Amino acid sequence: MDKFVVKGGKRLEGEITISGAKNAAVAILPAVLLCDEVCRIENVPEISDVSVMIRILYELGAKVKMINRDTIEIDPTGVGSCMVSADMSNRMRASSYFMGAMLGRFNRAKVAPPGGCDFGVRPIDQHIKGFEALGAKVVIDNGMVDAKADQLIGAPVYLDKVSVGATINIILASVKARGMTVIENAAKEPHIVDLANFLNSMGADIMGAGTNVIKIRGVRSLHGTTYSIIPDQIEAGTYMVAAAVTGGNVLIKNVIPKHLESIIAKLVETGATVEQYDDSLRVIGPERPKHCNIITLPHPGFPTDMQPQMAVLLSVAEGTSIITDSVWDNRFRYVDQLTIMGAQIQVDGRVAVISGVEKLKGAPVAATDLRAGAAMILAGLCADGVTEIENIEYIDRGYSNVVEKLNAVGGDIKRVNIPPQNVIPQAL
Ligand code: EPU
Repeated sequence: MDKFVVKGGKRLEGEITISGAKNAAVAILPAVLLCDEVCRIENVPEISDVSVMIRILYELGAKVKMINRDTIEIDPTGVGSCMVSADMSNRMRASSYFMGAMLGRFNRAKVAPPGGCDFGVRPIDQHIKGFEALGAKVVIDNGMVDAKADQLIGAPVYLDKVSVGATINIILASVKARGMTVIENAAKEPHIVDLANFLNSMGADIMGAGTNVIKIRGVRSLHGTTYSIIPDQIEAGTYMVAAAVTGGNVLIKNVIPKHLESIIAKLVETGATVEQYDDSLRVIGPERPKHCNIITLPHPGFPTDMQPQMAVLLSVAEGTSIITDSVWDNRFRYVDQLTIMGAQIQVDGRVAVISGVEKLKGAPVAATDLRAGAAMILAGLCADGVTEIENIEYIDRGYSNVVEKLNAVGGDIKRVNIPPQNVIPQAL
């Protein structure tokens, strides 16, 4: 087991290149199952969530070849199984995408309910509603979600809640269904557009991705493709905050500035300067950030996946800030850890009130989930002294080469092995 040791107080300066988007990769990899030929996927991030996806594909019978560090070739033609065990699906939320992909390919999917970060209740009722609208029968049998259909038939589906996962799963199930599926109140995140572009590059007929009405006309078959995944919006946002919170000056390369508009707007409110270029951004941090209020919303609103990182910036801002998470019930579990470092934050349900302090102080802390872990790194970078972060396997799920990227711009972060006798067992 490893931990990160971060020495704070260094101003970040230089260039960071953003990797492929985690949340696009974990949708595109299962989508390969729908294809009748070999697919080559480029700009795949080197993160553990992708390794789990590849492992599941391999165990299902796909042939997987690593072409280089960020390019994979997958031949799904030999896949015979439509079952993903709890052992694999518990490791990540996106394992639920195997339900839509296998239902679309085999008219049958048996997948244990997904795991993923703990932000309170994470239901999949809207996914199931979509599968049922397409004609599948869905039962929970022996701890597995078992969905089957004689033939999926396109249908209108209205989502009661804007859900990224349900939108993706319904697209996957309907791509080869007979006739037209219309998803109303669909999610609009960049990774949904990326999945639709990937499927269309194989011959699918999906219109409207990126708006709240997506139309999918079913096609008989999908051919092979070569496709490059979009840059990661949240990884980019995280390094933008790293530059801002250290008063640094960092060029963030390989980004789509359009995907970052809400993050740019909030950073500018806190006093950062953000220069925009075609596929890069320069962030120059202020001497001391100013307070601001944030409400997280589905895209194009401010992403919930960026609120813990912004909480760090606002913890050292002048004045009082309020963050409201309107997406998840319980995404402030990291606040206790920031408090150990001297932050002054009061949480009431979905609202956190942050009274800015001048400095955070390095301390032993733990990542409570993926983005919370990223927030601990940011806190360590701007704090006085040394911060030791445990449970970094959460961070490895979504950030490629974080140590290398931060050290290249003047950060001081090390991955250190914790001998087994010093590992404190996690609370159940
Ligand atoms: N919801 C329902 N019923 C459903 C599905 C969702 O009520 O059937 C509710 C959820 O409880 C939540 C809201 O709808 O309150 C939004 O959930 P959504 O389905 O959009 O989230 P998700 O698909 O499980 C993805 C990302 C998360 C990100 C959310 C919101 C992936 C693999 N995960 O989760 O990313 O927080 O969308 O944008 O794409 C992360 O990357 O760190 C991460 C957690």
